Amino acid sequence: MSSARNNPLAGTAAAANPPLLEVRDLNLEFRTRDGCVRALEGVNLHLKKGEIVGLVGESGSGKSVLSYALLGISDRAARITGGAASFGGIDLLGADARTLAELRGREISMVFQSPRTALNPIRRVGDQIEDVLRRHAIARGADLSRGLREGAIQALREVAIPDPERRLQAYPFELSGGMCQRVMIALALACRPSLLIADEPTTGLDVTTQAAVMDLITGLARERQMATLFITHDLALAADYCDRIVVMHAGQAVEDAVTSSLFRAPRHPYTRRLISSTPGPSGSLASLAPVPGNLPDLRRDDLPACRFAERCESADQRCRRVRPLLGEREVALAHRVACWYPADLGADTTSDAASNQGALG
Ligand SMILES: Nc1ncnc2c1ncn2[C@@H]1O[C@H](COP(=O)(O)OP(=O)(O)OP(=O)(O)O)[C@@H](O)[C@H]1O
Ligand SMILES: [Mg+2]
Repeated sequence: MSSARNNPLAGTAAAANPPLLEVRDLNLEFRTRDGCVRALEGVNLHLKKGEIVGLVGESGSGKSVLSYALLGISDRAARITGGAASFGGIDLLGADARTLAELRGREISMVFQSPRTALNPIRRVGDQIEDVLRRHAIARGADLSRGLREGAIQALREVAIPDPERRLQAYPFELSGGMCQRVMIALALACRPSLLIADEPTTGLDVTTQAAVMDLITGLARERQMATLFITHDLALAADYCDRIVVMHAGQAVEDAVTSSLFRAPRHPYTRRLISSTPGPSGSLASLAPVPGNLPDLRRDDLPACRFAERCESADQRCRRVRPLLGEREVALAHRVACWYPADLGADTTSDAASNQGALG
């Protein structure tokens, strides 16, 4: 790992006790034939060692785009137009392709949204795990005498795949969705990364398998002190498993709070709507209130400064003209919100609102 010299955030207050992953004011756009898609704007996010953070938001809010940008695997049309991201002192946005390739799988791993497409369909599961183990053993100059096969069996055992010796011979199409998901997790964790990004790791699984996969990921995360970014549109699932939750709307991070605080006193109007549209254990479907309107078209030139403004009952001219900030200088706060009129407190009376005054200047 390179030194903090490469860290664009060095010298800031946060650098004294730096989070493992820190993203600041990240802007990303896609230049397409149909126009410029402003997929991320001013996104702030941080993760500490061992922390499990949920990244939630409707479909199209930028959750996957953000994670791909961090791993350096964005679509070719993507351009990062501002901001900084660092991982353990390494500048992720400035790192060369080789450094990023070394980081991926060894220090930062990802479980992708659809396991069947992420796994190679024409290679046996065991061979795919061995490939990962071999690549990283060679990179570390490690001794391979313990045996790759043994390592692969161990990796499958850790994700509770029964009869791992036999499963190593299987092709992905021979496995159930839940088993494929476990194989993906085994692949992602085989090299003991310090950060795992799990993008909708349980989509398409039945509820029981979903719980088993989540228990598995979070259990391993706790055991290994692995920071985990858990991406989901399922707020209830995030509530069950995450220490902290970051809410995204239309490419902006709008609220960042420890889980209990977010559910006890959600402050951003979008978060409040999301929570009331999420069925609770005893909630009836009839009582659910969907979030009004749709995400704005991110190609528009006239996007409001707060991208929730057009869906928000409290919005006024200020919300349309001046973007409220999340107060990223106050990462120690248990609850931060990017809103001029957060719930429960009047405008301009909170520390968040106070820090937002900077945006007016
Ligand atoms: N290659 C691309 N070219 C143009 N626009 C893109 C591209 N990839 C993503 N986008 C746009 O970026 C925005 C964010 O997409 P993203 O896939 O990150 O959403 P998401 O939050 O992961 O949604 P989901 O919950 O459906 O996975 C969307 O408006 C999407 O259309
Ligand atoms: Mg996605």
